[in-house]
Amino acid sequence: MKGHDTPLAYRGYTAKQQAEPDNYLCRVGRGTPGGEYLRRFWQPLAYESELGRVPLRVRALGEDLVVFRDGSGQTGVLHLHCCHRNSSLEYAMIEARGLRCCYHGRLFDVDGTIIDMPGEPAADRLRQTVSQGAYPVHCFGGIVFAYMGPPDRIPVFPMYDRFTLPGVSTVPGIRFKQDCNWIQIKENTVDPHHTHVLHVIPQLRGMEHFAPEFGEFPVFTFTETAAGVAYLASRCVGETVWVRSAETIGPHLHTISSIFETGRQCKPASAPFMTIWALPVDDDHTMSFYLSHVLADEAMPFAKRRYLEVFGQNDDRPYPDRQWLPGDHDAQVSQGSINVHQTEHLGSNDRGVTLFRRYVRRGIEAVAQGRDPQGFYLTQSEVPPTVASDRVVPITVLPGDPTNRETLLAYAEQVAREYVNEPPMSFLI
Ligand SMILES: [Fe+2]
Repeated sequence: MKGHDTPLAYRGYTAKQQAEPDNYLCRVGRGTPGGEYLRRFWQPLAYESELGRVPLRVRALGEDLVVFRDGSGQTGVLHLHCCHRNSSLEYAMIEARGLRCCYHGRLFDVDGTIIDMPGEPAADRLRQTVSQGAYPVHCFGGIVFAYMGPPDRIPVFPMYDRFTLPGVSTVPGIRFKQDCNWIQIKENTVDPHHTHVLHVIPQLRGMEHFAPEFGEFPVFTFTETAAGVAYLASRCVGETVWVRSAETIGPHLHTISSIFETGRQCKPASAPFMTIWALPVDDDHTMSFYLSHVLADEAMPFAKRRYLEVFGQNDDRPYPDRQWLPGDHDAQVSQGSINVHQTEHLGSNDRGVTLFRRYVRRGIEAVAQGRDPQGFYLTQSEVPPTVASDRVVPITVLPGDPTNRETLLAYAEQVAREYVNEPPMSFLI
């Protein structure tokens, strides 16, 4: 038998299948190293469109919360359980100002201070010493964000260059819950190898999805950027060279250009297509919030675009369909509730994953040592440019043989350097 001769054959019995997850990197609760790190960033909690006449119950970083907008238009995020007798504020009443617990009527302002304690003789004294847990709120792109970190040092909500481009509007999307840890959701962004495989399966099986040009295997370049970690995937497409890039920004958002790009039309930079925040719900659940960047002259009807951009991102399809046409959700959630890095065997195309884990680890260490992590900005002027964009140039730009992998790699490295001097979004302003 072959198994007797080659130590790598028939290793089912001996191959390691179980190990502990990387708790330092992956845990998100209060007081854990990763949880304290994540609390230095604005976390998406809900779409503004979800705020109605009753509070919205959400879970974030292992904490149960309610989100609401009161009659005066203030948006609040409070701990779920009322500080009086612990009833859930998901049953509370939204008032002209604040949120009133359904049980005994304590009324809380959006900052958690008590406005009213009906029938309580000691109200004046209690109001000086008791309040409901609350977090500062910022709304952008139709999404409600909260800052769940130390209140003495609140970062600015970073308005990245791609959020305010002329001729590109932002459209809030849909939120998806994935039953796994946030790290494996975000690693997907800096893993261009999967795009060529997973997202080409629909084409192979007769469904329109990403542009067919994605099927051409690219060469990869990975780089740390001022904002995070990016990849460049370079291909020759007929008479052009197409350099695609995507970027993980800070720990928990990423941004990509169009999944319908063909790389056949020359351009110095492409407009952004989607930005996606991951909210670590708890250790083994993640919620993704989508923001679409829509060109004024976009040819594809938006409903079709929306269908294709979120295809395969959650478990809303029958299991046989997901087996036949698996999507990101199926690949990521099936890694396990917390992917165990010790049982992986990474290849050279996984360098983006390694860089991302290193980025997060550095940030966790910084916070543990009392420093601000990368991606934490106190003023808007500190917010760096982003690089994710597609550049398409004539194939004649290449100095050597375009079929040579080294020639393509050298060109991609040149593009990465150029992005530093002239951020790609500057071409669109
Ligand atoms: Fe993907």
